[in-house]
Amino acid sequence: MVTVQSILDSRCNTCHWKSPFNHASMVGVNATTGYCSGHSKLLVPGDLDSSCIWDQIDVGGTMRSWSGITSGEVDTIRQWILEGAKDN
Ligand code: HEC
Repeated sequence: MVTVQSILDSRCNTCHWKSPFNHASMVGVNATTGYCSGHSKLLVPGDLDSSCIWDQIDVGGTMRSWSGITSGEVDTIRQWILEGAKDN
């Protein structure tokens, strides 16, 4: 099974290696850059609109084009956020 963490590792953490994305570094964590303007948090469980991560990988998102993430992988992350972004 493809896990959210394996997608983050292969698509995102190649660049974001200094502070890699995982449950602890995303959920409820404050955003720090202008890429997240309009979003105070990187990820809010169950709330796509409040999650900078979602904004970045949704259609038109900067990190979507930079990472080459597939729409299937985006759907997996979307579903995970909507289901409460559990640490599993
Ligand atoms: C080609 C390199 C690269 C890839 C791949 C990449 N990013 Fe980024 N990302 C950056 C850079 C550079 C920045 C801005 C500066 C920084 O955070 O150091 C950034 C910033 C961000 C921010 C804003 C962080 C904040 O605290 O404001 C988010 C969210 C983000 N990326 C998510 C992702 C996600 C999710 C993926 C995978 C789907 C991804 N990125 C893949 C290079 C990349």
